[in-house]
Amino acid sequence: MTLFLTNARPYGEGDAVDLLVEDGVITAIGTGLTAPDGAETIDAAGLVLLPGFVDLHTHLREPGGEESETIATGSAAAALGGYTAVFAMPNTSPVADTDVVVEHVRRRGEEVGLVDVHPVGAVTVGLEGAKMAELGTMAKSRAQVRMFSDDGKCVNDPLIMRRALEYASALDVVIAQHAEDHRLTGGAQAHEGVVASRLGLAGWPATAEETIVARDCALAREAGAALHVCHVSSARTIDVLRAAKAAGVRVSAEVTPHHLLLTDARLTSYDPVNKVNPPLRTGPDTQAMRQALAEGVIDVVATDHAPHASQYKDTEWGAAKPGMLGLQTAFSVVVHTMVEPGLLDWRGVARVLSERPAEIAGLPDQGRPIAEGEPANLVLVDPEGVWTVRGEKLASRSSNTPYEGMRLPATVVATVLRGRVTAKDGEVAHV
Ligand code: DOR
Ligand code: ZN
Repeated sequence: MTLFLTNARPYGEGDAVDLLVEDGVITAIGTGLTAPDGAETIDAAGLVLLPGFVDLHTHLREPGGEESETIATGSAAAALGGYTAVFAMPNTSPVADTDVVVEHVRRRGEEVGLVDVHPVGAVTVGLEGAKMAELGTMAKSRAQVRMFSDDGKCVNDPLIMRRALEYASALDVVIAQHAEDHRLTGGAQAHEGVVASRLGLAGWPATAEETIVARDCALAREAGAALHVCHVSSARTIDVLRAAKAAGVRVSAEVTPHHLLLTDARLTSYDPVNKVNPPLRTGPDTQAMRQALAEGVIDVVATDHAPHASQYKDTEWGAAKPGMLGLQTAFSVVVHTMVEPGLLDWRGVARVLSERPAEIAGLPDQGRPIAEGEPANLVLVDPEGVWTVRGEKLASRSSNTPYEGMRLPATVVATVLRGRVTAKDGEVAHV
């Protein structure tokens, strides 16, 4: 299989070049190359070429939540969003806490074939926080689990977290923590602050995140383990991360597109589309997230793509499930919040959406340089593109996007997985 890209600008730098991709590998980069007979050709004039995006935090809902998303619909959303690999969180039914479930998710992802689906294994049995799951069995299974998380819930018990980090160190895997001290967030419905007080919603204090991150950094340091902090939302957590990194703790962190852009000011409508965990916080928090991402204190953007069928969202605030779609809008939100204000260039976008996530998860073939001999996991984007978000038109089975009707900059034109076009001009490939 041969693919030929003409006039693309890798990382948006320098003059346009042609790229030849054969059998999933970039075999030539140069000017004035000629397309071999039978090659699929994409005219990339005016487009920027980046390494395919890697999402460390996706909810694909299968098995058990197929009314909200399936591995097929979520993979389509991922390919259309520019992703070549996603990590599927284990809060499914059954929970992905055994080799059987993680292997099922991995296999289904391979059958769909639009994006590499890497199952995240649960840290504790049934996500119940009481008994550690068989991390070693999942790591050594055919699914080769590299990341473990109880996401949706915090591993709140310090003894369980300590043991999990010790196992992670021995197995050379990562523990991804949903940092929320549940003792401080009981009944919480919104960021603890003036908006929640005015609306009469129980508050989720930023300290519930900050204290768990501080505790876990101490535990990770002692265990010599790799800790990844999911969806950082509070400015004060950034101070903790900065200090831990300076002290040599193996800690990485992600921010979601919605915590870069949206604030709790949106809650006044009581529209549950804005309900998410951790909650939307304040304007200064979003500004702090952007700065920390630009500086590298926060390593990556991860979507926390959390599809919910309408019966879980079109209800009153208190009963609605937390979560919002993210896979098809993440890139545009990053351009809007980071590239447009001059906080990141295209190299920086490659770093936060592809290279660092691949490094954190230990994926050898993703987030690689655009160079001869490297695997062709790529995305072509149009920096001048503009589009209007319509939840109904997104590939996800659910339509709970907080960006409904918003005009966003930059479009994904084509996604390439090991030399195969998985999405082009808004359509997914038939594989
Ligand atoms: O908003 C959220 N939704 N936060 C989580 O931690 C879990 C997720 C979900 O599974 O819906
Ligand atoms: Zn979470």
